[in-house]
Amino acid sequence: MPSVTIVGLQWGDEGKGKVLDAFAGEADVVVRFQGGGNAGHTVVVGDTKHVFHVVPTGILYPGVTCVIGNGCVVDVVALQEEVSALAERGIDLSRLKLSSRAHVVFPYHRELDEARESARSGASRIGTTKRGIGPCYADKASRVGIRVGDLRDPATFSARLRRVLDEKNAILTQLYRRRALEFTPIYERCLEAWEALRPFVVDTSELVNEALEAGRRVLFEGAQGIMLDVDHGTYPYVTSSHASSAGVSAGAGVPPAATGKVIGVSKAYTTRVGSGPFPTELEDEAGDRLREFGREFGATTGRPRRCGWLDLPQLRYAVRTTGADAIVLTKLDALAGFGALRVATAYAVDGERRRVHCPDDPPARIRPIYEELPGLPEGVDYAGAECFEDLPPEAREVVSFVERELGVPVAYVSTGPQRRALIRREPQLFA
Ligand code: GDP
Ligand code: IMO
Ligand code: MG
Repeated sequence: MPSVTIVGLQWGDEGKGKVLDAFAGEADVVVRFQGGGNAGHTVVVGDTKHVFHVVPTGILYPGVTCVIGNGCVVDVVALQEEVSALAERGIDLSRLKLSSRAHVVFPYHRELDEARESARSGASRIGTTKRGIGPCYADKASRVGIRVGDLRDPATFSARLRRVLDEKNAILTQLYRRRALEFTPIYERCLEAWEALRPFVVDTSELVNEALEAGRRVLFEGAQGIMLDVDHGTYPYVTSSHASSAGVSAGAGVPPAATGKVIGVSKAYTTRVGSGPFPTELEDEAGDRLREFGREFGATTGRPRRCGWLDLPQLRYAVRTTGADAIVLTKLDALAGFGALRVATAYAVDGERRRVHCPDDPPARIRPIYEELPGLPEGVDYAGAECFEDLPPEAREVVSFVERELGVPVAYVSTGPQRRALIRREPQLFA
């Protein structure tokens, strides 16, 4: 089965969109298997910047089938808008497929997300994207969710929506002292979106399995990153889905072996949006400089991203948990001219040395142990480097250092936001 899975190895925003776009031209099918409108995947082609939220990045390539799998949660109104904006740019959307079993994000999910966040203060606030992701996945697990295919029959949809909305309105008004949401606008707007999206809706599990059986090349597109995975991330400061490679099987409806080769994406430093532990965070002027150098502002919410040094104990954990066979290191170019670099090679936890991040370690007692590496020179055309040897020795040393420390090949080095700015040290993507 020629398949490849791309996942984030940190707290999201590693540059998955850019990497997926660079690879998608070699795929027949690209499949999103988890997450929803919380994701923001940036792709730069020529002078045009695209930010994808739910539509898989492969849509820019004619001939690539793009699948939104059952593991995703979909705000159908936002998806209709995303699809229309792409169509206005002349992109053919007939290749888009939407799972009838993906759960629908409704306005009450967004309202509850917002209400819960507002009711919390300080460190107990998760800092969600307020896209209704948590409440929607909660409804799925509680078996009161409404799926895309449920919009097919207006009478059934209407009855279900009424039942669910009554319960949500009770919570919104009595617990959070907010206004109740009206049934009719939600119902009518969803049916309107359904009419627009109806041609895309299929049993995507069947489609992807048939593609795999026919030997077609399938690329699984992860959103977020392992440290935001609901089971393996820094709970409760996580998203509500399985952002690890383990999410592929359940979220795309394929056997576990279909996950194929796992490629993990990591920045050459670390960022995080929202609250939660971040051992190598720079809360000083150096962090501000890193944000400036890397232009670290959220693609979905525009929030400034928290920035810090590369964290190898965290990445060892990420590689182990995702089973990453290879790494793409992104944004090395962003560090040019920054000065000497630091990399955490281990943690001290209550005086004990740890090489691998352990989710049970109390975050407040983790002290990163750093090594220093020479800074990367300015005035170098990083994006123009065609092979690894074209990079300055300081950049190659960072890559080799990461490889040695993690024991996994850095098979790809991203040297800029553009599609072409990717050094491939392993030419063959699909086996
Ligand atoms: P994603 O969520 O993992 O797809 O990442 P985002 O798109 O949210 O954030 C990554 C940002 O870095 C985007 O603005 C990309 O255009 C940009 N980017 C990706 N790779 C590189 C790279 O190698 N160098 C530079 N300078 N920018 C990059
Ligand atoms: P991509 O795919 C970075 C973060 C939020 C918050 C937590 C929970 O672009 O890498 P949620 O809205 O999912 O309930 O928020 O997860 N988060 C992301 N951070 N990149 C993302 O996606 C994210 N999606 C969610 O900031 O801390
Ligand atoms: Mg992003």
